[in-house]
Amino acid sequence: MTGPVDVVVMAAGKGTRMKSRLPKVLHRLGGKALAAHVIDCAAGLGARRAVVITGHGAERVEPVLAAHAQGRMPLQFVRQEPQLGTGHAVQQAVPVLDDDGVTLVLSGDVPLTQPDTLRELVGWCDGQHLALLTLDLPDPTGYGRIVRGPGHGVQAIVEHKDATDEQRRITEIYSGIMAVPTRLLRGWLARLDNRNAQGEYYLTDVVKMAVADGVRVCAHRIHDAIQVAGINSPAQLAELERAYQRRVADDLMAQGVRLADPARLDVRGHLRCGQDVEIDVNCVFEGEVELGDGVRIGAHCVIAQARIHAGAVIHPFTHIDGEKAGVTVGEGALVGPFARLRPGAQLGPDVHIGNFVEVKNSTLARGAKANHLAYLGDATVGERVNYGAGSITANYDGANKHRTVIEDDVHVGSNCVLVAPVTIGAGGTVAGGSTITKDTPAGALSVSRGKQVSIPDWKRPVKG
Ligand code: UD1
Ligand code: CA
Repeated sequence: MTGPVDVVVMAAGKGTRMKSRLPKVLHRLGGKALAAHVIDCAAGLGARRAVVITGHGAERVEPVLAAHAQGRMPLQFVRQEPQLGTGHAVQQAVPVLDDDGVTLVLSGDVPLTQPDTLRELVGWCDGQHLALLTLDLPDPTGYGRIVRGPGHGVQAIVEHKDATDEQRRITEIYSGIMAVPTRLLRGWLARLDNRNAQGEYYLTDVVKMAVADGVRVCAHRIHDAIQVAGINSPAQLAELERAYQRRVADDLMAQGVRLADPARLDVRGHLRCGQDVEIDVNCVFEGEVELGDGVRIGAHCVIAQARIHAGAVIHPFTHIDGEKAGVTVGEGALVGPFARLRPGAQLGPDVHIGNFVEVKNSTLARGAKANHLAYLGDATVGERVNYGAGSITANYDGANKHRTVIEDDVHVGSNCVLVAPVTIGAGGTVAGGSTITKDTPAGALSVSRGKQVSIPDWKRPVKG
């Protein structure tokens, strides 16, 4: 790469067609704000810094992007108020840019550009030329057209609204992305005017100025329209979301992951997979999720912030959300169908969690089982424990949470209430229907329920 690259991200526009209260560049694609994708691309390129031009919704956009850029790359904001066009936007940024670098102009609503493409564009700029990213579109309506001269050299970009009929037939369009030596850009921007169909200061007018100044204009023509696709409406956002998910699915399959249907997968974050992972249809992965070797995920699972170790099987319709504390599923564990694992659920190897079982902030040691209709919250569960259907830990007294300890080899019968804080001693058995409020000794059968009585020859009341 030739010298430092400073990225300028245009993000001041209103995004009227989104018809949303949320500023356009904060809408999410793959679970991440549109403009955050652009920041990541700039970071991936190794840019020296990014300058984001904000305007509409600036007070909401700036904190989100500042938090995202933290630790990734230096970020600065400049405000553009009012918004008088793309040239006017970049004019606001040049005072904070240094003349030794190349300015790379990006848009906050174009999320899927690849760093390699931009690296090539900066290569074409080479610290001295004006490099434009262009592509051919079957329907170029609305875009700026690349006007070439007799020797095919680029002469100008003409905006659709200013173009003649003949120019409108040109299918090569300007993507909105350019790389330009900052010292040249500074001079050209100072000379912009707004005498055009829209009464705006067009950034694209710098092309004419470059030609007039004898600076070479290079068009780097790409074929992958997704990389320069901008988002203006919910329909375009949905379309690009599918394109993004397809890219994620293709990457996973290239690593050997077996997807039942690549069109029915949603990854909103990072999904790391070992060997021989199988994922059935309609699964959603959010945040950081790791699947070990041989893990199988059934249909219709939602899994966020979780680490699932080798050989574990997550049956259909399971919801796992680790939030901040995370969820761990041990080797060979079986979870679901219809299970719910909440933050701090840590399942050891060979644990079984069955249908309608909820686990929160609890550790289950090797081989523990809770197979039906149960709740384990704030519990420490030993090895080989069997936790019966309908049993719960009463962990909350209305003010504070307390722990339940269930030692190794305990059997808890059905429909028990373990009132925390309480410890069930190793090897003990809790009889079905018991409400346990005191610690139980190891090895004991603990029963705490009304004694059964039968009244013989009982006559049911009859209607009077
Ligand atoms: C622009 C290009 C056009 C190109 C098209 C590609 C100009 C004059 N035209 O057109 O040649 O084909 O992009 O999509 O540059 N913005 C600001 N402040 C402003 C105006 C815009 O920050 O005052 C931001 C918008 O939020 C957006 C980006 O700049 O992120 C592009 O603006 P937009 O209005 O979409 O540009 P177009 O007129 O479509
Ligand atoms: Ca646009």
